[in-house]
Amino acid sequence: MPAASLDSKALIERLQVLQAAETWGARLLAGWLPGIAHWEAKHAAGLHLWQNLQIARDLRGRLWELRVAQPDRGLPSTLLETVIRRLASAQHDVEFIAGLYLGWKRALVAAYRDYQSRTHATWDAPSLPVVQNARLLGEAQIRWAEEFLQSAAVSPAQQHLVGRWQTFAAELIAASGLFGTAAAPLPDLPPAYSCLLPIANARRDARFQTQLQGFERPSPGDVTAHTRWQFLNYSMEMQAAETLGSVLWEVDGMPWEFYYDAGRHCYDECRHCQMGEERLRELGHELHEFPQFVGNYAWRQLYDPLRRYGMLTAVIEQDAFALKHETYKGYVTQGDTRSAEAVLYDIIDETLHVRWGAKWLPELLKVSGEQKTVDEVVAECRRAVGENSLAPAQRASSRK
Ligand SMILES: [Fe+2]
Ligand SMILES: [Fe+2]
Repeated sequence: MPAASLDSKALIERLQVLQAAETWGARLLAGWLPGIAHWEAKHAAGLHLWQNLQIARDLRGRLWELRVAQPDRGLPSTLLETVIRRLASAQHDVEFIAGLYLGWKRALVAAYRDYQSRTHATWDAPSLPVVQNARLLGEAQIRWAEEFLQSAAVSPAQQHLVGRWQTFAAELIAASGLFGTAAAPLPDLPPAYSCLLPIANARRDARFQTQLQGFERPSPGDVTAHTRWQFLNYSMEMQAAETLGSVLWEVDGMPWEFYYDAGRHCYDECRHCQMGEERLRELGHELHEFPQFVGNYAWRQLYDPLRRYGMLTAVIEQDAFALKHETYKGYVTQGDTRSAEAVLYDIIDETLHVRWGAKWLPELLKVSGEQKTVDEVVAECRRAVGENSLAPAQRASSRK
């Protein structure tokens, strides 16, 4: 029997909850990004959090057409946040992934499917491709998680943890009543479970050695060594993605567009990392031949999210342009078009990142109640990078 249709008010409320749920899902995934050890899973998380924010943007766009200009108004925000914070309290990355994808995302996909069956295909036709796209992306993410967990949670102990957490997540989400189920008291966390976010140290899987220090820049005259260093450095930009992930999780109360821009920024840094990894492979190297540099993530976590964001955008990214342009010209002169093109795309992305920094830093100051001016905070951030950065090139350019 087909599901009973819903009226426009009920359908619109569902879209409102779903856009907030996608945004929260992206922020939660971002918060856990540094805590996910498996390298390919980390990359998948970077892509998925950006997909979730794009789904949220499309839903919000449709809501605007449906005359809901402020889609976050009137939401069960406390309940949403409570559920998300309990899902954040997984103690292992495999548990977290099971809860988020096989609990939360499955509930969202079921809600999209339900929406498709309960709305009017003609009256509400413009909603349907938005909902269908959200559903298809969600289904692909769930398939990824199922495959990942099959290969990553193999021991009976891990399978037990994953199974238990997945059951907890499903019961929690169902009891919340957020996605069309009957509301009930929320289940408590398993004993001794508490939130590990924000993550203090970025994790890497067993294929990698880790080190706190970055890599010394070879002489530009040693073309082979310098190009290898260049793309190895790109591959270490996962730390920038992880810092942004922590910011996305920790900063509350910003306009929705901030989370959208920071989500794209986070995904871009994952892409820069991947670009480095792919170019190294073209040069005859695998990434795990080199130690992973994780110290810059660790010391940045000692600062508040406002300053972390300021250090990345107004100092590290802003100050890197001179070297990037010099590097680009160097590759053009050497006839290394492939390296030159990679650097050019990076410069294009970085220009956006610095612009977002200039746009959002003043807002972040306001929201965090900071009394100092933007210039004062940026000066502080520049000093902090100069004193603490463990990447020699970064330290040098922040002191210029
Ligand atoms: Fe980057
Ligand atoms: Fe960047």
